Amino acid sequence: MAEAPPTGTDVPPVGGTDGDTYEAEFGCGHHFRLFDRPGTFHVSRAGIALGDYLVRSLRGRDITGRILEIGTGSGAIALLLRHLGATSVTATDISASAVATARQNELANFGVPTIDFWHSDLFPPAVDGEPALFDLIVFNPPGWRTPSDNLIAELDEKHHSLGLEAMFYGDSVLLRFLQQLPNHLTANGRAIIGLNSLIGIADIFTRSRSTHPPQDGSVIRSRLLERIEIPLLFYTDEWLQVKNSLLAQFEKGRQEYAASYVTKGDTIHWFYEITEVTVQGQPTAPVLPGRENTRQPAGRAVRDLPGGNACLLPYAGGPAQLAPVARHSGEPEPLVS
Ligand SMILES: C[S@@+](CC[C@H](N)C(=O)[O-])C[C@H]1O[C@@H](n2cnc3c(N)ncnc32)[C@H](O)[C@@H]1O
Repeated sequence: MAEAPPTGTDVPPVGGTDGDTYEAEFGCGHHFRLFDRPGTFHVSRAGIALGDYLVRSLRGRDITGRILEIGTGSGAIALLLRHLGATSVTATDISASAVATARQNELANFGVPTIDFWHSDLFPPAVDGEPALFDLIVFNPPGWRTPSDNLIAELDEKHHSLGLEAMFYGDSVLLRFLQQLPNHLTANGRAIIGLNSLIGIADIFTRSRSTHPPQDGSVIRSRLLERIEIPLLFYTDEWLQVKNSLLAQFEKGRQEYAASYVTKGDTIHWFYEITEVTVQGQPTAPVLPGRENTRQPAGRAVRDLPGGNACLLPYAGGPAQLAPVARHSGEPEPLVS
């Protein structure tokens, strides 16, 4: 008899449930009770791993730089950054219900809101025509690619308890993110993103260089910080119901864009790659009158982000600066993935 094909674990993600709330627990005892709302991504093993990396890197540091979390979902990572002492946290999500949940989660866990939440596509809106700048951008993007036509047809027949954008379209989202990133990082700024190996990571960076290069000629560089093996989850009942088509898409991805996973027993395991992304070679950006404080780098942000257990350098708030700010310097170098 033929063996059953590999599947994935069917159970929902991390944390116990308690009514409509659940506990998300990060390293060193950082934990939050979060609302489990339809339309909001339930914190998963990957989000916990990314949070753990941030705990190891930032705990005990003076975090005075401006931080953005894109795709905040429940807000868990943004809440964690606040809990770690970050003084300026902005967070966005394309899902209006996720943003509403994240706001509620901040209020429930801290009492007083300080995080600047935006319902927005990737980055927060420009102010006076100028893009907001950040010293550190954190993004746990959707981990699966745009659904195939077959998969879309199947998904169209289902009720959606979670928008497809929570886990699908990761390829186009990442390409747009990498293209726009240079407009949003301060000098020495960097992004920490968590990449799902099912998306075909090397292929995304190659396509970013060839089909979606930053418009100002700057160059994106990437560096692997940590790699974690995670059993596959289907996240929602509807997606579990189309698991055969999903698995077919992952298998096709293995051939077409080097999507990577291993099969253990009857479960697929994928790899979560926590990756640092920096930008080189962007020209000096002018500062508009009245925007000086937002245009300046808020301090020496995060240099030489280490992997493993090493730590980020602390943020150190810089003096007010009225002159144009060099946002990225140095010669363009080939993208490394
Ligand atoms: C994998 S979930 C991560 C959620 C949360 N950060 C976490 O770690 O639990 C991806 C999130 O990105 C959001 N998202 C997808 N596309 C986006 C876009 N273009 N702009 C902003 N957020 C987006 C989804 O709505 C979802 O909440």
